[in-house]
Amino acid sequence: MADKQATLNVDGNDVEFPVLQGSTGPDVIDIRKLYGSTGKFTFDPGYKSTASCESALTYIDGQEGVLLHRGYPIGQLAESSSFMEVAYLLLNGELPQEQELNHFEYTISHHTMLHEQLRHLYQGFRRDAHPMAIMCGVVGALSAFYHDSTDISDPEHRKISSHRLIAKMPTIAAAAYKYSIGQPMLYPDNSLSYTGNFLRMTFGVPAEEYEVIPEVEKAMDRIFILHADHEQNASTSTVRLAGSSGANPFACIAAGIACLWGPAHGGANEAALNMLREIGTPDKIPHYIERAKDKNDPFRLMGFGHRVYKNYDPRATVMQKTVREVFDALKVDDPVFETALRLEEIALNDDYFVEKKLFPNVDFYSGIILSAIGFPTTMFTALFALARTVGWVAQWNEMISDPGQVIGRPRQLYTGPTQRDYIPMDKR
Ligand code: ACO
Repeated sequence: MADKQATLNVDGNDVEFPVLQGSTGPDVIDIRKLYGSTGKFTFDPGYKSTASCESALTYIDGQEGVLLHRGYPIGQLAESSSFMEVAYLLLNGELPQEQELNHFEYTISHHTMLHEQLRHLYQGFRRDAHPMAIMCGVVGALSAFYHDSTDISDPEHRKISSHRLIAKMPTIAAAAYKYSIGQPMLYPDNSLSYTGNFLRMTFGVPAEEYEVIPEVEKAMDRIFILHADHEQNASTSTVRLAGSSGANPFACIAAGIACLWGPAHGGANEAALNMLREIGTPDKIPHYIERAKDKNDPFRLMGFGHRVYKNYDPRATVMQKTVREVFDALKVDDPVFETALRLEEIALNDDYFVEKKLFPNVDFYSGIILSAIGFPTTMFTALFALARTVGWVAQWNEMISDPGQVIGRPRQLYTGPTQRDYIPMDKR
């Protein structure tokens, strides 16, 4: 019995519901028995007030701009940790000892190769296919190649498929890029770090040695950390919903990739950079700010606003700093960064953005860094998918391990015709 109760008056009758408390954050009213006791549903499109699950992975306080993974602030992880360490943390709940991390890195690096026949699958795509379209297809196809790890009731199968997904995603993403530019795909190199190996498979060619630039490797690794998990966002909820039916993990992650692709979610950094390039110079900013505020204009400031953060997205802070580091290391001087800084300053002082609590999100600066490193915009969301795979598999594992897990099945407010009789064709 929960300590606190909430009372809802329905049709003149008081109905009590338990109020559940997490370790921090808002309490939740447990309405699982609402329909049974009142015959009514709740209505919450977009889940703005609905907790869909219990989770011990990631905590966000959107008002304060706080993001914690297993309790550790994202800023500290981005500063002091590595993507592999964060992956271990998300999957296992605690930071690894040195030996545990070495073993985890060894395991991941020994799952990076793709089945040769899977590599041939790429030839079926048009050269101009978007990398996300290829990734949806190739990741979905993994279950056809690795069915020795798709028994989701077996924790060992779940572990192996999780490792396979995290390990193969860089190979899959880099191969999608190589295919689109007509260069040979490179096999993974286990002597490199997870991130160094990805950079080599993306930018290296078989004819030459590839030298990983440490600053770029660090920045890329940090970008992966910043995208590793983000609580019950749209793509993670998609993975959970797909997984709730018992679907295999490869199919679930393919569903997550499909959802992430949308411009309101993972596609936003591509859209943000395109927007910054379209704006071009700081003198054009006021025009675009006015457009963003105009209700009759569909234009939005991409990279601004967030469903949960009503404060500065803590990931955007790290991103902004990382832009400078990458620009210094690569001696890049792209005016788009100045435009971004100026746009941020103007928007943050504009009543519209202040009142609606619209701040830069993680996507506002990430595109600038990725572009400086050499990625085409079409690869941005693919990189996001690569990093978020860690969160997706961790969330999926958490869900499947939960003894109270049930299939996700929302209800609806029906507004269509009520029952009527079929009309034969000649009488319509
Ligand atoms: N530019 C201009 N106005 C905006 C913006 C924006 N970027 N974002 C929100 N608003 C306005 C809305 O028009 C709305 O105005 P209203 O109250 O007068 O109708 C108000 O602010 C609230 O916005 P909602 O769309 O209701 O907020 P919601 O939480 O549903 O949307 C979202 C969040 C989708 C992220 C939105 O802010 C947006 O479209 N941003 C641009 C896309 C983007 O950057 N997405 C990346 C999200 S982060 C990620 O996925 C990793």
